[in-house]
Amino acid sequence: MTKKILLLPGDGVGPEIVKQAENVLRYLIDSGQLDATLETALIGGAGYDAAGVPLPEETITQAQRADAILLGAIGGPKYDTLARDLRPERGLLGIRNALGLFANLRPAILFPQLAAASSLKPELVAGLDLMIVRELTGGIYFGQPRGIETREVSGSNEKVGYNTMVYSESEIARIMKVAFDIAEKRDGRLCSVDKANVLEVSELWREGAEAVGQSYPNVALSHLYVDNAAMQLVRAPKQFDVMVTSNLFGDILSDCAAMLTGSIGMLPSASFDEQGKGLYEPVHGSAPDIAGQDKANPLATILSVEMLLRYTLNEATLADQINQAVNQVLDQGYRTADIMSDGMTLVGCEAMGEQVLAALRR
Ligand code: NAD
Ligand code: IPM
Ligand code: MN
Repeated sequence: MTKKILLLPGDGVGPEIVKQAENVLRYLIDSGQLDATLETALIGGAGYDAAGVPLPEETITQAQRADAILLGAIGGPKYDTLARDLRPERGLLGIRNALGLFANLRPAILFPQLAAASSLKPELVAGLDLMIVRELTGGIYFGQPRGIETREVSGSNEKVGYNTMVYSESEIARIMKVAFDIAEKRDGRLCSVDKANVLEVSELWREGAEAVGQSYPNVALSHLYVDNAAMQLVRAPKQFDVMVTSNLFGDILSDCAAMLTGSIGMLPSASFDEQGKGLYEPVHGSAPDIAGQDKANPLATILSVEMLLRYTLNEATLADQINQAVNQVLDQGYRTADIMSDGMTLVGCEAMGEQVLAALRR
């Protein structure tokens, strides 16, 4: 049956990188290898500009009808002074929430060709293959109460800002199950990251991890405080197999892990609901500093297409082909600026996408 893929280019470099990923999908469709149709909808600042809101109703409807979604990136300085509800970030958080995409998988894998682009010594990152499982629809991102209000503080009135980090037992249990299932299929090591030495919400998180762990005798569960986890990721990242953590900690740790692989421009992600429906997106943002200059690395988005084909469309062979094409292009020495090193060939976003297509055609 023909599958529906919804493209959400968004803002900044979003349209540039999604264009290259779209070319890959179109090639697979036009050559008869993939039975799918592509649609496009608005999100983020693009939604605000065209429809006055960062997540138009129609986008949600189209997303619900789609089999899989590929998102570029949202946000930009132009929108940073808008009321919070109208900001592009609300569009992204809104679609994650509307679709119930609670499980965010962020693999950090080093392509051996990029060892020189990592900010760590090659021997520390050679062979790195780490999976961060980030809870995506709870925690401090969505907890109530939240707000800014004027209160009396030590005898005078001033503004106070507050958010609430909250997790229920069932929210913890369902993300733990996802993480344990993944760890069981990999090297059988799961590290849960929290701040249980300070936060009650983390105490419950740790208890939830232990409880779910009872059903996974083949997975070795360990715990780290988030400050130590950040340090360990930079000290000796290969000690980790799968990490599971809350929304905010996962956001921070995945950007940190990105740099181990050479650039945040290399990291794809997948977000799933309870039925396994997926939204795929690069881990990075709209990169306003390089937007519109044909400089963005499209590989994180193209690797997100690889994940989409593998996990939602069950097209493992096509997914493997995309991975091989990316490997070939890196073997040939093509590099966008973010992963450039001595002796390599500097290319822009479009040329990088064209090289991936050329490799796919071979
Ligand atoms: P960012 O990820 O957009 O950029 C951080 C740095 O990484 C920049 O120097 C940028 O040029 C570089 N970079 C990012 N992607 C790249 C790519 N594909 N190729 C080469 N270099 C790349 O983070 P930021 O600057 O903190 O945020 C910018 C905007 O993006 C903000 O509005 C933020 O809210 C938004 N944002 C969106 C997402 C998302 O859509 N999922 C994620 C993070 C940030
Ligand atoms: C990400 C981004 C988003 C997040 C922002 C833009 C809302 O940083 O996808 O990592 O914090 O989840
Ligand atoms: Mn982030």
